[in-house]
Amino acid sequence: AGIAFGLDAPYSVEYHDRIGSTNERARELAADGATDVAVVADEQTGSRGRLDREWVAPSGGVWLSVLTRPDVPTARAPLFTLAAAVATTDAAREAGVDAAIKWPNDVLVGADGNGGAADESDPTGRGGRKLAGILTEMEGEADRVGWLVVGVGVNADIDPETLPEGATSVSAERDGPVDRRRFAATLLERYAELTASPEALDRVLPAWRERSVTLGRRVRIDTADGSVEGTAVDVAGPGALVVDTDESRQRVHAGDCEHLRDA
Ligand code: BTN
Repeated sequence: AGIAFGLDAPYSVEYHDRIGSTNERARELAADGATDVAVVADEQTGSRGRLDREWVAPSGGVWLSVLTRPDVPTARAPLFTLAAAVATTDAAREAGVDAAIKWPNDVLVGADGNGGAADESDPTGRGGRKLAGILTEMEGEADRVGWLVVGVGVNADIDPETLPEGATSVSAERDGPVDRRRFAATLLERYAELTASPEALDRVLPAWRERSVTLGRRVRIDTADGSVEGTAVDVAGPGALVVDTDESRQRVHAGDCEHLRDA
């Protein structure tokens, strides 16, 4: 499958009207030795979210996964996820939706915080409504990244009634249809630009910080090992959130975050 995409980014596009999961497809392509491919789908029947959670992906979304083989140390791999969050936020803003990033990698609308209530379903809470999520998968060789698949799910042209509570869509927020090709192209072009070189990657953290609703706030993060409460001071490592608790400075890894809210 393939469509003319008018893409100013160094990826070939493999388009599917319907597929199980674009991340799964990108992983298959990685196993075949491919690189620099963006798998894009209108609908996914078996898509995955973080922490093995289900991700609802009906027709009308921008569901895509970018497969690359960046020549960078594994320690820099989380920058690609942060870059995807920045790219998604910028594509949403270009579409007229005022989006921001909640650590680790949710893109929200209407957030002036991370949500204070335990009940995430309050759509008018300061935690905002979830517009997009990101799932990164990779395989490394020694301390270099082998292949990297960054999967982005954007609720684009979707009735939020069909989405989980607390979720929203681009069309609902702008009160009109969205040009999904343009959204996907903007996202992919911005992602390519932010990850084009080591120097470009150096600019990812500052861009992420500017768009974050998490930094500077008192937060509580639940992990499988318990919770950490304190002030979110920075992102470092670069995938970890640096939190000043009353006793110490701690780092929480993105992959360990089960839930984050304002404290
Ligand atoms: C999350 O917030 O939990 C991350 C959701 C990631 C969903 C996207 S949709 C495109 C790609 N393919 C998948 O199966 N998952 C990601």
